[in-house]
Amino acid sequence: METAAAQIASPPPPPPPPTHVAIIMDGNGRWARARGLPRTAGHKRGAEAVRRTVETAREMGIGYLTLYAFSSENWKRPAGEVTDLMGLLRLYLRNEVSNLNRNGVRLKVIGDRSRLGPDIVALIEESEAKTAGNVALTLVLALSYGGRQEIVEVARRMARAAQNGTLDPDAISEADFAAGLFTAGIPDPDLVIRTSGEKRLSNFLLWQSAYAELVFLDVLWPDFGRAELEAAVNDFHNRERRYGASAG
Ligand code: FPP
Repeated sequence: METAAAQIASPPPPPPPPTHVAIIMDGNGRWARARGLPRTAGHKRGAEAVRRTVETAREMGIGYLTLYAFSSENWKRPAGEVTDLMGLLRLYLRNEVSNLNRNGVRLKVIGDRSRLGPDIVALIEESEAKTAGNVALTLVLALSYGGRQEIVEVARRMARAAQNGTLDPDAISEADFAAGLFTAGIPDPDLVIRTSGEKRLSNFLLWQSAYAELVFLDVLWPDFGRAELEAAVNDFHNRERRYGASAG
């Protein structure tokens, strides 16, 4: 039997990591401006932070990591910047798949693919197929993604089904609706992190984040690393999640 002293000496095991962490990667432009560099240099360093964060999330035992890489609204940026961001995504998809496979990472892309270039769509399909059997971590890249657009699209499909008589509007459940979203089969995020000091969701996972804990960090995305991810997860562990129930 354990003595009292031994009980005091052994700390409780650390809590399990959140199953799903989602990140709004913000601040690439400000990181570059602070150094007198073009915005594209910030995005490039941002892509390095993506690689680092995927690796760290896997090591921490996080099951799903969703990264907001390009929003529906980002299409309004100057053409040159959109081209640069698409170039970085292309490079990431081309160069990272073997690394993802080596580390057991499955890739899934969510968002409106109809607005992406055909070569990027082909790369996405190829990368998803090549990593489909991996189980250590699911990396979800939100690309040309908007939460409101995603919700409207499900409503549109359901309205059509109701109109042609294959769906009873009174029978629609939250689970039916969730099954129509890009994230069908993926658990809702437990923790949503936004970098760069801004405190907004910016159309990111609006349905899915209903009960997520939100952590806002001042660090700019290119400087995000293990210490910041661990700090956000610690913050998450210190909060009490009640899902609308009263405090016990
Ligand atoms: C916000 O910085 C970031 C983005 C618009 C997208 C994130 C893109 C990357 C991290 C690079 C490529 C991604 C992958 C997956 C390879 P901002 O430009 O809005 O910064 P600012 O608010 O300081 O101007």
